[in-house]
Amino acid sequence: MARKRDEDGEREELLDGLSGPDKQVSPKYFYDETGSQLFEAICEQPEYYPTRTELAIMRAHAREMAQALGPRICLVEYGSGASVKTRLLLDALEDPVAYVPVDISAEMLATTAEALASDYPELEILPLCADFTQPLTLPKPRRQPQRTAVYFPGSTIGNFTREDSLALLRKIHAEIGAGGALLIGTDLVKSRELLEPAYNDAAGVTAEFNLNLLRHLNREFDADFDLDGFHHEAVYDERQRRIEMRLVSDRRQRVTLGGETIRFDPGEYIVTEHSHKYSLDDFATLAASAGFTVRRIWLDRQAWFAVQYLEPA
Ligand code: AVI
Repeated sequence: MARKRDEDGEREELLDGLSGPDKQVSPKYFYDETGSQLFEAICEQPEYYPTRTELAIMRAHAREMAQALGPRICLVEYGSGASVKTRLLLDALEDPVAYVPVDISAEMLATTAEALASDYPELEILPLCADFTQPLTLPKPRRQPQRTAVYFPGSTIGNFTREDSLALLRKIHAEIGAGGALLIGTDLVKSRELLEPAYNDAAGVTAEFNLNLLRHLNREFDADFDLDGFHHEAVYDERQRRIEMRLVSDRRQRVTLGGETIRFDPGEYIVTEHSHKYSLDDFATLAASAGFTVRRIWLDRQAWFAVQYLEPA
C-alpha cells in the first residue's frame, strides 16, 4: 500500500516555489504525522467552525443524502482521513457495495480501513493509497454497484485554485461516469470577522500547524529553516474570496534546501495555503463548467457551510 515518493521532483517543485520573490510551498507539506495530528486539533478549536458545522449538517441530513445517492453504491472518499463524517453517511446508506477511501497517507488509510472493517463487517473496504488529484484506477468491488459516488467532504476543494478545482471536478466527472454522483462539502463566503479568527485561533494551533511545514521540510528535504525566525499569518482576501496562510520571515535570513540557498528579507513571506470560500452561485457555475448539475444543497442554520449533491448534467 505504500506509495513511492518522487523526491527529486518534489525538491525541484519546492525550490521552484521558493526561488522567486513570490514564495510559495504546496499545502501538501502540512501533512506529515505531526501535521495530521495538528489538523485534527485545529478541527477542535472553537474558532474553526467548518468541521463542526459540516458534522452538524451530516447529522441532520445524512438520511436525505443517502436517499439521493440510492442503494448499493460504491462510495469513494477523496482524502478520507479519519472518515468521521463518512460513518454518518455509511450508517444511512442502503446496502452499500463497497467503500474506497483514497488518501495519500498509507498509515492513516490503514488505521481507518481497519477500524471501519471491524465496525462494518458486511462492507467491502478497498483502500487506495494515492494522490486524488492524479488520475485514479478505482478498484472493482466484488458485487456490481448501481453507481459510483465520490464523497469529498471538508471543503478541501477550497484549497485548490479555481482552475485546479475545475480540473479536479472534471476528473471526478470522468471517474464516476454518466450514472455517478458527487457529494461535496463547500465552505461559504462570510465576513472577515468570522473567517480570520478561524485561521488564527487563540490557542495557536493553526500557527503551529503552519510552522510545522518548515519542520517537515527540514527533515525530509535537508533544509535548515529556523522556526523561531518565522511567524504565522492568515488574512482574508475579499476580492479573491480566500484565506491566505503565510509564514512571514522575522528578519533578513538565508535558508538552505537541497543544497540551494534561499534568501528572505524581513517581512517577506511564503504562501503555504489558500482556502477559497464559495457562494452557492459561484459553486454552481464552477460545477456546470465541469459538466455537473447541483441537485440538492444542505446548509446549517447560519448558512456558513454547504454539503452539495451533484450529478453529471
Ligand atoms: C483541509 N482544509 C479544508 C482546511 C481549510 O480550512 O482550508 C485546512 C486548514 N488550514 C488551516 N486551517 C485549516
